Amino acid sequence: MPAPLSRRRFLGRAASAGAGLCLTAAAAEKAASVAPAPAVPAAPVPDWPRWTGSDERALLDVLRSGRWGRTSGGARVKAFETAFAARMQAKHCVATSSGTTALLTALGALGIGPGDEVIIPPYTFVATFNAVTASFALPVFVDSDAATFQIDATKVAAAITPATRLLLPVHIAGSPCDLDRLAALAAERKITLLEDACQAPLAEWRGRPVGTRGIGGCFSFQASKNLTAGEGGAVLTDDQAFADACYDFHTPGNAKRSPSSGRGANFRLTEFQAALLVSQMETLEAQAKLRDANAALLTAGLAQIPGIKPAGLTPGTTRSGWHLYMFRYDAAQFAGLPRAKFIAALAKAGVAASSGYTALNTGAHVKALAANPHYRRIYGADTMARWAERNACPVNDRLVEEAVWFGQTKLLGSRADTEKIVAAVADVRRRAGDLAKA
Ligand SMILES: Cc1ncc(COP(=O)(O)O)c(C=O)c1O
Repeated sequence: MPAPLSRRRFLGRAASAGAGLCLTAAAAEKAASVAPAPAVPAAPVPDWPRWTGSDERALLDVLRSGRWGRTSGGARVKAFETAFAARMQAKHCVATSSGTTALLTALGALGIGPGDEVIIPPYTFVATFNAVTASFALPVFVDSDAATFQIDATKVAAAITPATRLLLPVHIAGSPCDLDRLAALAAERKITLLEDACQAPLAEWRGRPVGTRGIGGCFSFQASKNLTAGEGGAVLTDDQAFADACYDFHTPGNAKRSPSSGRGANFRLTEFQAALLVSQMETLEAQAKLRDANAALLTAGLAQIPGIKPAGLTPGTTRSGWHLYMFRYDAAQFAGLPRAKFIAALAKAGVAASSGYTALNTGAHVKALAANPHYRRIYGADTMARWAERNACPVNDRLVEEAVWFGQTKLLGSRADTEKIVAAVADVRRRAGDLAKA
């Protein structure tokens, strides 16, 4: 049996299987502008990320400047912070080395630590959980909404205890969770709201980019992301004191913008990454518009196929970041064809898809926390023994069995490419009876 694909390997592979036109143009431009032969033998180049001569020039400029880091006097990190904050309508941005370190920076700046509870969704990348446990706070899972795959905001209040310090919802797939309800709840219960917007650059809630509805938002520029420098991250906020605390936390000892908490780390973005991000931002909006159009086409087509339910957008969403295109697959409507065989049949038709996340809240990594000696000492053996029960998420358990994803590069093709995806799904349904027997 083939090993299950991790989300990142899937996105990498899905990217390589996607449209090749832009790659050809980028590759041609690259060949024309970079004379020396590569030092390593050419390997197949995936179609994500995409780059142009502008990216090459930006990287070479940093190289030749000799200023490769923010601490060696480089100006690119600051330039990226200014550009990203402006594009996302935020007052402040602190660039970090990854989305995980953006979360760690934000949690560190907020003083989240041992004894604090943090509410998170189960339908997310493990990094959301890891950022909480790296701070020795206690993650508490709140179930998903089956229609949107987002945290079910109606269930959050019941999970709040006197120890709850932070709501950390995720805009999964780049689509906003219910920010109105969560912000209202956070204000009412005097709890901080921080958005894990790692998949959500350009996503909008009621016409405004995500990331500043609560104290701030954390973003990732890791290799699969719609805006990428291979790795990278950022915290956005409208709050000056929080921005200062984030800045100091991510580069301790170099600045004194906020009262010290005695904690911090080096989570700085490099000048190379920043230069690439500024340059990549030139194509961000055009790509996003293409994803918007193709996602709408996909939804219109797939929604007509019995057994396929595209993930809905939370009312209030005015734009998804479309990092993933997700839907639920009902095998009963496909003559009992198991999801794995449905995905294999799509792959054979040239349409790479994934079964997405497994259940984070019941996975071995999360369950191990109950036995972690530090956690047993901080929270008590009884609390940790009962913690797993508290984390039950029955809706999510079903969702992870039904979910199917397309990566974001599947949304960068032509109208015809997108129609072919719908046709491939419809064709698998027509042949489902035979495929189920095979
Ligand atoms: C929802 C979510 N949170 C956090 C992260 C962590 O970001 P990074 O991989 O840049 O550390 C990711 C990255 O995939 C993510 O998807």
